[in-house]
Amino acid sequence: MSEKRVGVLTGGGDAPGLNPAIKGLVYRGSELGLRVIGLFDGWRSLLNPLPDFLPLDRDTVQRWDRDGGTNLGSSRTNPSKFSADGKQVDRSNEVIENIARLKLDAVVVCGGEDTLGVAARLAEQGVRVVGIPKTIDKDLAGTDYTLGFDTALRNVTEVIERSRTPAGSHGWVQVIEVMGRHAGHLALWSGVAGQAHLILIPEHPFRYERIFRLLRDRLGDMDLARWLSRRSRYSVIVISEGAYAEDGQMVTIDDRQDAFGHARLGGVGEVLARRIMSETPYEARAVALGHPQRGGAPSPVDRIMGLIFGARAAEAAANGDFGKMVSARGIAPACELSLVDLSVVQGQINTVDVARYYDTERYHLKDLGMNL
Ligand code: F6P
Repeated sequence: MSEKRVGVLTGGGDAPGLNPAIKGLVYRGSELGLRVIGLFDGWRSLLNPLPDFLPLDRDTVQRWDRDGGTNLGSSRTNPSKFSADGKQVDRSNEVIENIARLKLDAVVVCGGEDTLGVAARLAEQGVRVVGIPKTIDKDLAGTDYTLGFDTALRNVTEVIERSRTPAGSHGWVQVIEVMGRHAGHLALWSGVAGQAHLILIPEHPFRYERIFRLLRDRLGDMDLARWLSRRSRYSVIVISEGAYAEDGQMVTIDDRQDAFGHARLGGVGEVLARRIMSETPYEARAVALGHPQRGGAPSPVDRIMGLIFGARAAEAAANGDFGKMVSARGIAPACELSLVDLSVVQGQINTVDVARYYDTERYHLKDLGMNL
């Protein structure tokens, strides 16, 4: 069996589950005659004249399954639209040259829509790539699961849970802004798990008047009688950073864009809290959870999904199944893996199926036969 050299890189936002995936790749790869080379900081590594790399063997990655983030580092580098001196240049050829210089037979690319979009374009040019899906947004087309979602769900649910005591003690509306640029999976399911009162997602623009009405229905006059009757005197609203009002637009931190043309979203929770305070009798507080919601050790599901995604990618590389992404139908332990064409990630994302899951009147999970 002749040995194959396979590079691995992680791009875009870090996510728990990436290190288990690398371990799965190295361990399964070692049984299949693959020598795995870690490439640092996403696509950026393959733009360096001398790419930074680290040979990965079983001893190196033995404990990586327990680590959050990515031990290979990450970046939002887009080789085909690289910004230099105020201009955008296509440096894809340098990536291709470096893959040859490092004598890599294939590259395993772990990423979301953007990083895998680069991989899909390189595959069209004949580069041998295998994709592993990752993003806490869970919005990649072609797979039910993307690494990081479950851990982020756990992290956000914990915060919703902990927000109850301050909100209840002070009698205010707690707005919790979570990640999710175009997809509300994280907001919807953490909101259900944490039993938030209202959940606002990018797939369905909200109306302020409707939110105020729903708050009044729940909180009423907030007088002594309510306190004594022990009825709800607080409310928790979970809102995706990408959610927006019917008559408004997405709220961004500034007007800069990353290499893939995305603005940094953030602030819609604060905007909502201010409107609640100025247009209702209720106090409101907002918190944007930001990057820590992607932090910490991977959950058991992210460890398992990472390990099996990595192992499946090793098999694809060994069998010469290039231009493919590992895809899951179902989530561990009831999970079936397959390979789908990488082009599936281009030009489409997987958003919340509003007709099936979202109650557009109650701003919550649609009643699926259970009384929440
Ligand atoms: O795509 C994953 C994600 O976490 C989005 O939810 C969020 O909008 C974005 O990354 C944040 O980008 P960055 O990590 O570059 O700040």
